[in-house]
Amino acid sequence: MLQAITHRMLLSANVGAGSSVLDIGCGVGGVSQLAARLVGPRGHVTGIDQSDAAISLATSLARSANLSNITYTNSTLEHANLDQQFDAVVGRAVLLFQPDVVTFLKKAARLVKPGGYIAFHEIDDGRQFQSRPKVEIWDLTMRALLSKLQQGCPQYDIAQRMVEVFALAGLPVPELTYEIPTAGGKAESLCLWATETLRSLSGNATHAQLADGYAMDWGALNLELQSAISSANAQVEFLGQVCAWARIPVC
Ligand SMILES: C[S@@+](CC[C@H](N)C(=O)[O-])C[C@H]1O[C@@H](n2cnc3c(N)ncnc32)[C@H](O)[C@@H]1O
Repeated sequence: MLQAITHRMLLSANVGAGSSVLDIGCGVGGVSQLAARLVGPRGHVTGIDQSDAAISLATSLARSANLSNITYTNSTLEHANLDQQFDAVVGRAVLLFQPDVVTFLKKAARLVKPGGYIAFHEIDDGRQFQSRPKVEIWDLTMRALLSKLQQGCPQYDIAQRMVEVFALAGLPVPELTYEIPTAGGKAESLCLWATETLRSLSGNATHAQLADGYAMDWGALNLELQSAISSANAQVEFLGQVCAWARIPVC
């Protein structure tokens, strides 16, 4: 689901055969791999991340996927030693973590060729969720998830402020999409996504702590969510996904 949204953003940012792409905060390479398939053998993707462990895993995943047109480097954007400009500079779920997002965007924009694109896919950790009819356990799980995300992300509501931060960085008004992953039935993918994300943010604790005195085993929580959503004929929403992209003018 996430990959399909990012894929559409890359196409909107003109990433295609022969492009050069910089993926900032590439993690284990989800976005870099998408871009590498789009740019093909004549193009190239550079992924940078401040986490050494993420870069090691990204490198071995690219090798297993036979993608030889990606180079990964362990660096922050601030300290990256990049001596070229790119057709597209992209990132996913990375602005959320920046203490100074405007300075970060300015630095990213300097790495785009004139006429190229800057594009970010960010996750909206500032919006409340809906379940209709109301499914209490889904709402509790999502509230616990939002609280963890808001504690961990200095820019948790950045997805709602993309136009503002692009303007403050001297960039053109971005084009935007906002998608809310939504499901009914057992909503298996959303339930798994929610429980796995909450689990990783909880330091892989043995139980999910949903509220004071309300804890549940992770596997049981996943099944309980599916059953509650299905029996209520409910429609549930997950974290909103914003994509923002802009073309850097040719002076
Ligand atoms: C939530 S992960 C997203 C990873 C990847 N973009 C994805 O969507 O799968 C955020 C990543 O950004 C990296 N990161 C955060 N700030 C960074 C910075 N200033 N320079 C380089 N990497 C950064 C983190 O190390 C982490 O791997």
